[in-house]
Amino acid sequence: MTLPSTLSERADALEQQMSDELDVLLTKSALANMEDGQLGASGMGFDRTTKTGKHYLMGDDPRLPKLPDKPTLLDFFRCRAKGTNHLLQSATHALKAGMPETTILACLLHDVANAIFIKSDHGYWGAQLIEPYVDEEVSWAIRAHQALRFFPDESVGYKYPEAYIKHFGADYEPDEYIKAAYKRARNHKWYMSSRMITVHDIYSFDPNAVVSWEPFVDIVGRNFRQPEEGLGNDDSPSAHMWRTIRRPTKYL
Ligand SMILES: [Fe+2]
Ligand SMILES: [Fe+2]
Repeated sequence: MTLPSTLSERADALEQQMSDELDVLLTKSALANMEDGQLGASGMGFDRTTKTGKHYLMGDDPRLPKLPDKPTLLDFFRCRAKGTNHLLQSATHALKAGMPETTILACLLHDVANAIFIKSDHGYWGAQLIEPYVDEEVSWAIRAHQALRFFPDESVGYKYPEAYIKHFGADYEPDEYIKAAYKRARNHKWYMSSRMITVHDIYSFDPNAVVSWEPFVDIVGRNFRQPEEGLGNDDSPSAHMWRTIRRPTKYL
């Protein structure tokens, strides 16, 4: 047997193998393929159903933890995040500093996009995801933290993160849209709310730090308007995003 030679052939072979082990056909979206350096959604252009006698997945991905029928925010973290330590540490930091509940919630959710959805432009995606369910100030702050992270503010002791020098190089310069977003945020009435996210957005990860959801359950309850029918089953402007996180490999 000859091994597939190109990256795209190898990706197809992997997908085939995944599907072989299950009784449904799995596909990946264009974005997921782009993240592997490939173009196009898989499952388009040729029909694997005839060849295999299987159907494309239109429900839950059997490889992922099953969400309840009416999933809550916490269910999504439980079943879709690899870990929430960074978020819990940031929120705990804000809690101990006596911040208002809206700031604590903003810290708890500031990287929700990285945790369960997408990294690139995570502040924008995260804000959009939760926007229908929180006070405008909370989603505004989460959106703006994306830009504010790159700019120091001596008045509150926020320095350019050492980690960014390590991650992006000493001469990394933020994109123009980030600089522009920073300038707008700097003069906004809610600037400090977003700035507080960056202040509590700690990179000193202590693997032994004991953090839990317990102190935040009530804060989420009071400040996150959980739809009764479950996130994604509602008709909010971001419900489709929650559904996609629930079923990332749904064929359509
Ligand atoms: Fe962030
Ligand atoms: Fe963060």
